[in-house]
Amino acid sequence: MQRLQSKVAIITGASSGIGRATALLFASEGAQLVVGARRQAELDSLVQEIATAGGRAVALAGDVRDEAYAQALVATALEQFGRLDIAFNNAGTLGEMGDSSQVSLAGWTDTLHTNLTSAFLGAKYQIPAMQKTGGGSVIFTSTFVGHSFAFPGVAAYAASKSGLIGLTQALAAEYGPSGVRVNAVLPGAVDTEMYREMNNTEESQAYIKGLHALKRAALPDELARSVLYLASDDATFTTGTAMLVDGGASITRS
Ligand SMILES: NC(=O)c1ccc[n+]([C@@H]2O[C@H](COP(=O)([O-])OP(=O)(O)OC[C@H]3O[C@@H](n4cnc5c(N)ncnc54)[C@H](OP(=O)(O)O)[C@@H]3O)[C@@H](O)[C@H]2O)c1
Repeated sequence: MQRLQSKVAIITGASSGIGRATALLFASEGAQLVVGARRQAELDSLVQEIATAGGRAVALAGDVRDEAYAQALVATALEQFGRLDIAFNNAGTLGEMGDSSQVSLAGWTDTLHTNLTSAFLGAKYQIPAMQKTGGGSVIFTSTFVGHSFAFPGVAAYAASKSGLIGLTQALAAEYGPSGVRVNAVLPGAVDTEMYREMNNTEESQAYIKGLHALKRAALPDELARSVLYLASDDATFTTGTAMLVDGGASITRS
C-alpha cells in the first residue's frame, strides 16, 4: 500500500539534496508532484527519473523569494492535478556567513528572505488550496542550528531557521481547526551540496560528524523518510512540532 496514494504535493529545493530525495520517495509512495527550485536542468532530470519509475511530476523553476512563484506553484498543482495535500517548503541557503559584525545588511536580509519569508509566502497560498479539500500537511525545513546547537559565523542562517519554528507554531494554531497540520523538520548534518559547502575539508567533516551521537552525517533519504511521516496519514495528530532528526546531536556532549 502506497502511503501517499492520490495525494498531491509541492516540494521546493527539489533540484538537489533533501528535496530531491524526498521527491523521489514521495513519488514512489504514489504522490503526484510539483517540484521547484531555480535550476531547470536538475528539475527536468528529476521529473524524467520519476516518470521512468512510473510516477508523475511536473517541474516549475523559479525563486522562492518571489511571491508570484509561490502562487504559481500552487496554481500548477491545482491545474495539473486538481488539488493540493502536502507542501514541503524545503529550499534554503546558508547565506552570508562569517563574523557577524562584518555581515552586510543585504546578506542578512537575503538569508531571512530565502529561508523564512519564502516559507511564509509558500504557506500563504498553499493553505487556502488545502482548505478547499478539508486540510493538508505543510512542512518546513528548519535545522538543529539555532535550536539545540550554536556555531559561530552563521547568525543569519540560525535566526532565519529558528524563525521557522515560530512560524510553524503560529500557523499550526491558526489553521488546525480547518484540518491543516503544520510542522518543521530539524535535520542534523546531512550529506548534501550545502553540507559540503560548509564543511569542505576532511577535518571539518570529521568535527561535524563527531557532534552527533551516531558519529556520522545523515543521507538525504533518511531525512526524506522523516518528512514522509509528517506528510502522511501516520501523522494525523502531529502538528506544531519542531521534529529533530539530528542523529542525537542535541543530546551529545562528547
Ligand atoms: N545539509 C544539511 O546538513 C542541513 C542541515 C539542516 C538543515 N538543512 C536544510 O535543508 C534544506 C535543503 O538543503 P540541502 O542540505 O538539501 O542542500 P542543497 O542540496 O544545497 O539544497 C538546497 C536547495 O534549495 C534550493 N534553493 C536555494 N535557494 C533557492 C531560491 N532562492 N529559490 C529556489 N530554490 C532555492 C536549491 O535549488 P537551486 O539552487 O536549484 O535553486 C536546492 O534545491 C535547506 O533548507 C537547508 O537549510 C540542511
